[in-house]
Amino acid sequence: MRFQAGIPTVFSGLLLASKISALPVGAEQQPIFLPEAELHDPTSYALYPLQSTIRDVLHKHLVIGDVLDDFEPSYYLDIKYPKNHESVLLGNDIPVDSVSSRPVFTFHSIDAAYSPPRKSDKHKKSAFTLILTDPDAKSRDNPKWSEMCHWILTNLTTPVAPDPPRLLKAKAGEIEEYLPPGPPPKTGAHRYVFVLLEGDTTSLKAPKDRKHWGYDKPRHGVRDWAKDNGLTVVGANFFYAENEKQ
Ligand SMILES: *[C@@H]1O[C@H](CO)[C@@H](O)[C@H](O)[C@H]1NC(C)=O
Repeated sequence: MRFQAGIPTVFSGLLLASKISALPVGAEQQPIFLPEAELHDPTSYALYPLQSTIRDVLHKHLVIGDVLDDFEPSYYLDIKYPKNHESVLLGNDIPVDSVSSRPVFTFHSIDAAYSPPRKSDKHKKSAFTLILTDPDAKSRDNPKWSEMCHWILTNLTTPVAPDPPRLLKAKAGEIEEYLPPGPPPKTGAHRYVFVLLEGDTTSLKAPKDRKHWGYDKPRHGVRDWAKDNGLTVVGANFFYAENEKQ
């Protein structure tokens, strides 16, 4: 199941997530249909389980499984590619041409969506790292180069919740330069997975190689690197991209 993006608001990711939550993704999950007007009011999100929706979608596309161990998302990653106004929306298709330069992003504590952020937010002093990885190199059926590390941006702090949310540009802290996704011809759609990691970033180093994140074995990557560096997965988002020649 893949989605075509097309909702040009800052909360588009949340909007899409609310639509996904209306699909039969799990027996325990009750579909909730919000009136159009309420979709623009962030307090409405308290009404449905965004956290389990994100997790269900990550499971469904085997992002949890192939790339990450099971986890409870505590942040929503809002990522946009400004060039052609594309947003990363938990598994939508984005043309390769749109992802040729760095995205802008922000991340929201999912709990903070339920109540105004307090000054004593326990995550305030946390440091974060954002990565982009391709588990489907060379292809999803033949992942012999996977995972391929595309980006590591570290020393991020929790953005103070401005209204409307401001998207951050990559600045200092890039320990692995952004490598634009370039899936080879005839290798089908690749999943490009952003992962938000939390933990000490003061002495983080890039992996020794982009291929397999330096682990010399297919299907190894950010999971190993995060573990070796004591980082915890707190959020993820992803899109699909494929070469025009299939
Ligand atoms: C991250 O921050 C630490 C402490 O301020 C600094 O020593 C380190 O060089 C920074 N890393 C990067 C990649 O900028």
